[in-house]
Amino acid sequence: MTKVYIKTFGCQMNVYDSERMAGVLGASDFEVTDDEKEAEYVVINTCSGRQHAEDRALSYIGAAIKNKKVIVAGCMAERMQDELMAKFPRLHAVVGTFNFSNITSAINRGKKKIFAGVTEEKYPVKLRRNEKVRGYITIMQGCDNYCAYCIVPYVRGRERSRDVEGILAEISQLATDGFKEVMFLGQNVNSFLDEKTNTNFSGLLRKSAEIPGIERIRFMTSHPKDLSDELIESISATPKVCKHVHLPLQSGSDRILKIMNRHYTAEWYLSRVRKIREAMPGGAITTDILVGFPGETDEDFQQTLEVMRKAGFDASYIFQYSPRRGTKAALMESQLDEKTKLARLNNVLELQKKISEDITKSYLGRKVEILVTGPNMVVKGMMEGITDNSKKVIIPGDGSMTGKFFRVKVIRAQTAIMEGEILK
Ligand code: 5AD
Ligand code: SF4
Repeated sequence: MTKVYIKTFGCQMNVYDSERMAGVLGASDFEVTDDEKEAEYVVINTCSGRQHAEDRALSYIGAAIKNKKVIVAGCMAERMQDELMAKFPRLHAVVGTFNFSNITSAINRGKKKIFAGVTEEKYPVKLRRNEKVRGYITIMQGCDNYCAYCIVPYVRGRERSRDVEGILAEISQLATDGFKEVMFLGQNVNSFLDEKTNTNFSGLLRKSAEIPGIERIRFMTSHPKDLSDELIESISATPKVCKHVHLPLQSGSDRILKIMNRHYTAEWYLSRVRKIREAMPGGAITTDILVGFPGETDEDFQQTLEVMRKAGFDASYIFQYSPRRGTKAALMESQLDEKTKLARLNNVLELQKKISEDITKSYLGRKVEILVTGPNMVVKGMMEGITDNSKKVIIPGDGSMTGKFFRVKVIRAQTAIMEGEILK
């Protein structure tokens, strides 16, 4: 059988797309391997979110193409198309973001660009999963928000939701395969809507919670402008839905938020935080912060730090603004210099570290329930688990504990990862 290796760059949705491609390939005449050396074909699933991600993929392609047949798929393929073919004349194929299900014909036909034109996206029910306890499921694709800095609407297309039936079938398959947790993915899961059955995101959560075997349901990402009180309440009212909301703030300055086209103010954002805290005591809130957007003054930046202090995020993904060709922000004249952007990045990292440490310390001595996900990669002989609100806890044990729930007492809580002892 022809062996294929898949290399993934970028976000969790890309990981899912790679699992989809692997599922499609495995159901055909290909064997997907975890060992790149033995593969005849290498599929590189790419990200366009920041220049850095593209640079890394470009150098990966350059190295792989020397002795493999290379297929470039995903966001960068969608964005660069002919440019990629010109840069790497030996590329076997280039596959866009609407065509993951055509990966087999891309490999078989070769030297072809496979783009758009396909209106129906097929999702195999059986994916080739990378994990054993948590299964990711993309419930919607694309984005209509057009935040001024973001390439996603251009490379992923208009927002579209999958039908509920297909999603539920995929969850049932996960349950059959022994998974305990699902995580729904989408650029803006709040606006999920299956028009055929008139099911919105709350409805999807409720229906998913009825599937036996799956004990936990997570989701990301929520857009602050669409996070209604009703949705917060239905998250809180569905026991299987984890009490963790990932809610990108981006900036704490109303002026910048407006230019970013985010459609909310810092005060609205903080009202969402208060509502979540009220409805889900002990729940977690995490965020994305984007520093160095064009024209961001020191005052704007201080307002971001202020909102971070008020919100008390459990964790933040912090990004330094990277101009993406084709987006509005890339054309703005007031681009900041690297030094300023980097200094702000470090500032935010430092503040978040302090906030996270304080939160972690408050767990010392507390009793929590964790789902063991597998061995801890750093400390030998320790297994790793995750709480409902996404805190990592390591405990002594072995592989037989994977996929099981344990009540533990936190006995160490200095760093980001806590240590626990099992309660009998
Ligand atoms: N530069 C830096 N970060 C970006 N993000 C989106 N576009 C850019 C860009 N051009 C960040 C945002 C988003 C996260 C997934 O990536 O913070 O929420
Ligand atoms: Fe990009 Fe904004 Fe859409 Fe998120 S909501 S994917 S940041 S355009």
